[in-house]
Amino acid sequence: MANKDLRDWLAEIEAISELQIITGAEPKEEIGGLVDIFMRKMGGPALLFDEVPGYPKGTRVLANILTSAPRINVALGLPAKGTEMDLVQWWRGYMRDAPMIKPVQVNGGPLCENILEGKDVDLYRIPTPVWHELDGGPFIGTACLVIVKDPDSDWINYGAYRVQVHAKDVASVMISPGKHGRIIMQKYHDRGLPCPVAVVVGVHPAMFMLSGLELPYGKSEFEAAGGIFGEAVEIMNMPKTGLPVPANAEIAFEGYIHPNDKVQEGPLGEWTGYYSGDSRPEPAIRIETMMHRNNPILLGAIPAVPPNDNTFYLGSYRCGAIWNQLEAAGIPEVKGVWAHEAGGSRFWTTVSIKQLYGGHAKQAGMVAAHCLAGAYCNRWTIVVDDDIDPTNIDEVIWAMSTRVDTREDIDIIEGGWSSALDPMCYDGDTDRRNGRVIINACKPFKRKDTFPLVARNTKGLDERVRAKFAHVLPDGV
Ligand SMILES: Cc1cc2nc3c(=O)[nH]c(=O)nc-3n(C[C@H](O)[C@H](O)[C@H](O)COP(=O)(O)O)c2cc1C
Repeated sequence: MANKDLRDWLAEIEAISELQIITGAEPKEEIGGLVDIFMRKMGGPALLFDEVPGYPKGTRVLANILTSAPRINVALGLPAKGTEMDLVQWWRGYMRDAPMIKPVQVNGGPLCENILEGKDVDLYRIPTPVWHELDGGPFIGTACLVIVKDPDSDWINYGAYRVQVHAKDVASVMISPGKHGRIIMQKYHDRGLPCPVAVVVGVHPAMFMLSGLELPYGKSEFEAAGGIFGEAVEIMNMPKTGLPVPANAEIAFEGYIHPNDKVQEGPLGEWTGYYSGDSRPEPAIRIETMMHRNNPILLGAIPAVPPNDNTFYLGSYRCGAIWNQLEAAGIPEVKGVWAHEAGGSRFWTTVSIKQLYGGHAKQAGMVAAHCLAGAYCNRWTIVVDDDIDPTNIDEVIWAMSTRVDTREDIDIIEGGWSSALDPMCYDGDTDRRNGRVIINACKPFKRKDTFPLVARNTKGLDERVRAKFAHVLPDGV
């Protein structure tokens, strides 16, 4: 049986009422404008834009994809109803086991329904949105796979690096220093060779999720995707570069990045909610082949003022990593980790613990704020007791409001690991560091038995009235 594809996921999320179809929005500002509005609150539907003015009916754009836990759950093959914390737990297990299944070669697939070569290549067949008004142009690659092959080994890497459309057969790719795609591209250029590249837009969301995750150097995302699906990903080779792409992808193109061949790129609004710089020269992709399915679907995961699609799913993964790293550092009784989506899933981390000893909460906060998974761009780390749900910001603010002893529970650490994307990073280009705050919002350990009692239902009463009066309770309360 063929792998699940984007259309299977769409059918699954439509069945659980997590999809909204919108017709008549044009791509120059209306699609992006609507996506921006829907993304302001997590839990809204995925948006499928059809009947885009100027394009054939059926040529679609899909966005706001992974902004709800049920849709992420469905993508990962989990029960839709699981909570954010179930998801974090799933990622923890996934990271520990890291299952890998090698992809399998197939002889073509739905992607081959339309093949455009040479002068027939035409990116403008796709209604690529300008996602935000100040963006430098239309970005076809956000939720994309940019695929390159290491010239020194069999390693195929794919990553989500933004891809802008410049002409019908010219795109650009912006890959930050240190990313695997950039390291591999540089190997070709150091030898004076063009770097072969394939860009895939419109795949099953689980495959895209891996594109944005920092898998170790040398590891193949295709194999990791097979590990999530529990079966080999079916790949076919692009005709010119021979690079593998999923045979059931919606849209793919291939070409070459020549040494020193750059075009003026960007800007694109970032996941921090700001533009981080001006337009700059970035590597051009000279496209030789474009392929797409009939009625293709462009998939977008758009950075914006958080919460946004670019960071919500990444937050659930990162929390799993922080939790594992807290345990690896010997911190006992961690009960939950959540990187609140309004903080871009990086700037704000909440950890809940069952306090065992004086200093336990401070230790957890220090480690969470500086372990590998939690350190980059962190600004706020809050430690709460285990009666607080870290995914519930009301409860977190209540704990911060009522359990902090300002004489010793607030630490400000200077010189943390930051990024030029952080608007409050100091020495943006040279050092990239920031200050961060660690707040112990747990009840003081020495008062844990004498602290005022909480004026809320016990778990038992909650369960009894919920069972008896389920019909009068609104959803999600
Ligand atoms: C939607 C989305 C867009 C991204 N855009 C970029 C980008 O334009 N450039 C970049 O260097 N990283 C970008 N990232 C981050 C990388 O995808 C991420 O660091 C990934 O691990 C890179 O793959 P690699 O580890 O194989 O290099 C983006 C991530 C996501 C989820």
